[in-house]
Amino acid sequence: MSSQFEQRLESDLEQFIRDGVYKRLTYLDSPQGPRVRMEGRGDVIILSSNNYLGLSAEPAVIAAGKAGLDRWGAGTASVRFICGTYTVHRALEAACARLVGTGASLSFVSAWNANEAVPATLLGEQDIVISDQLNHASIIDAARLAKSITKCQTAVYKHADLADLEAKLVAARDRRTRMVITDGVFSMEGSIAPLPDLIELCRRYDAVLVVDDSHATGVLGRHGRGTAEHYGVVGEVDLITSTLGKALGGAAGGFVAGSAAVCDYLTQRARPQLFSNALPPTVAASALASVEFLEAHPERVTTLQTNATYFRERLLELGFTPLPGETPIIPVILGETSAAIRMSELMLSEGVFVTGFGFPVVPQGQARVRCQISAAHTRDDLDQALAAFRKVGRELKLI
Ligand SMILES: Cc1ncc(COP(=O)(O)O)c(C=O)c1O
Repeated sequence: MSSQFEQRLESDLEQFIRDGVYKRLTYLDSPQGPRVRMEGRGDVIILSSNNYLGLSAEPAVIAAGKAGLDRWGAGTASVRFICGTYTVHRALEAACARLVGTGASLSFVSAWNANEAVPATLLGEQDIVISDQLNHASIIDAARLAKSITKCQTAVYKHADLADLEAKLVAARDRRTRMVITDGVFSMEGSIAPLPDLIELCRRYDAVLVVDDSHATGVLGRHGRGTAEHYGVVGEVDLITSTLGKALGGAAGGFVAGSAAVCDYLTQRARPQLFSNALPPTVAASALASVEFLEAHPERVTTLQTNATYFRERLLELGFTPLPGETPIIPVILGETSAAIRMSELMLSEGVFVTGFGFPVVPQGQARVRCQISAAHTRDDLDQALAAFRKVGRELKLI
């Protein structure tokens, strides 16, 4: 006989199923790559992974992790400031700072943690954090956490709306520190933040600009240095947060990049640093090898960008209407949530895994399937996926 607590959870879960928002996990049994072995489905083309550069299965990246395991063991068994800091953390942090163009960086076990650390540690009661309306959930929660821990103020500006941001900055004139936070690339839209304008506004109103480049590191700019490189403003963003769990090897981990003082302050005071184990050395070693691979192989970024353009243009030719953009995130708007879910299911039966997103993850009436392209996709992979789009699109009378 389950308790009242269990009954409540079970009844909510049943409601999730009725509402069509229940998530069923798919189990993979091969490395992440352009094609994976999916339990019960066989080999499937993946258009839903953040493995933008294909580095999670790159031999040098795997070898570095294995060597790290032999050299440093399975984990740190400690937080950073006690005895959990390894030489590989220092090397990784130097490499991340070099990549994104800041004086220093500090690693975390996830970008979620890195984001959580920033406003809650660096702001106080006299300050304000101002966040883009479409920012990632980790930033939204980071602002809520900062408000509850430090009693700082919070505000949200309309997505990429500089006039609205300016109004919020004007209203916050009397605050000691104004911190503006934005995604570099917005993951549901595949759009890029208007960074030069944000830099200019933040300078004018003496605000600290924080950019979460999780979907831009390794992706944007000629060398994959992120949103700042895309716009030619490397070195002009105050703080960059990013993940090691997407283009940079795809394992896990994140970092904050900024001045030496910011990183030192976070080392001293950030609660996720002080009270949670450090990034495992094996993961740090693979991530370091990923950054070094990226630095040595900028052509991988070019391939990613070429693949994304190819896929986007062919989708348009087929009669789909992907959201316009320049990133390898290509959302195809379908309208109702049920249409996105149906499309995703039919695509999977054609051997292509592309995720459908509906309300409330995206606005009502703008349900979509979101394609994520990788440098590891071959033309064959992309053409096969496009053939599936054509077949399913016709079946559903979308094209
Ligand atoms: C913009 C953004 N920030 C942060 C994260 C969290 O990254 P991590 O998996 O390293 O916690 C994600 C992951 O989805 C993201 O898209």
